[in-house]
Amino acid sequence: MPTLLQIAALHPGAQSRLEADYTVIRANLPEIDDAWLASQGGEIDGVVTGGHLGLPAKLMTALPRLKVVGINGVGFDKVDLDLAKSRGIRVSNTPDVLTDDVADLAVGLTLSLLRRLPHAHAHVQGGKWPTGEMPLASKLSGKRIGIFGLGRIGRAAAKRFAGFTDHIGYTDMARHDDVPFTYYPDPVALAGSSDVFVVCAAASTSTRKLIGSAVFKALGPKGVLVNVARGSIVDEEALVQALQDGTLGGAALDVFEDEPNVPAALRSMDHVIVTPHIASGTHETRQAMGSLMLDNLDAFFAGKPMPTALV
Ligand code: 8YV
Repeated sequence: MPTLLQIAALHPGAQSRLEADYTVIRANLPEIDDAWLASQGGEIDGVVTGGHLGLPAKLMTALPRLKVVGINGVGFDKVDLDLAKSRGIRVSNTPDVLTDDVADLAVGLTLSLLRRLPHAHAHVQGGKWPTGEMPLASKLSGKRIGIFGLGRIGRAAAKRFAGFTDHIGYTDMARHDDVPFTYYPDPVALAGSSDVFVVCAAASTSTRKLIGSAVFKALGPKGVLVNVARGSIVDEEALVQALQDGTLGGAALDVFEDEPNVPAALRSMDHVIVTPHIASGTHETRQAMGSLMLDNLDAFFAGKPMPTALV
């Protein structure tokens, strides 16, 4: 049985399958120090991780037998694929199976922010209804939606938003000829023609802090930012500033620069909604992600083609 280091949680169904087929050593990243590596590092054939955690380059190079990394997530921004390739390490992710959930949450967060659903819930739950009405909210239908990144998730989000409005724009590395949405050449141009700016792009070194003050200024005091992609794409400091000084009207965020640490400012503003990276967090999807991640590992160890290998 190959030995796997597991640094991220799996859905219970996938966890049982993992433990039935492999020798599993569980550890959290901060626990993996020189002493841990000296005692167990030499046994590890594969790593099971999440998209949000990836695998630090230092750890990848400190595991002499490492041959395969299974990411239980679609994002691979925290795994150095070039380094993996150079060391002959295979890496897989879990595309497609989580697309619907992430797109659903993009719409859910937008509705929650514009219609102030968390505030409305707190109003009733806190017994405030008998003594006062909720202040009025903002309408979603008819608003101009801007999608940053028209990949699988961006397309699924655009399709959902098309049920609310005819005004859907996007920007991406290039124009897509097969969609009815309006193309803008860059994020600032898109923001200038959007009320809701939805970040759906994959993170990379070229998207790092790309969504910053120029985008917030272009969105304006009535515009809002929604992020279901990666915290690294947004300049969080500039976002706090724009929300505090009224340059930007609001934000709904599922992802952050330094998870699970969310700046106090973002946690305390009335026009900001924050969720703890839950976009793929449904039973159905986490089960499907776990199965696909394991299908990849099983194929690798059986010497068969991995269904969704990155390298
Ligand atoms: C999960 C993700 O939070 O798919 C991704 O890239 O970030 C999320 O789906 C995570 O990977 C679950 O392990």
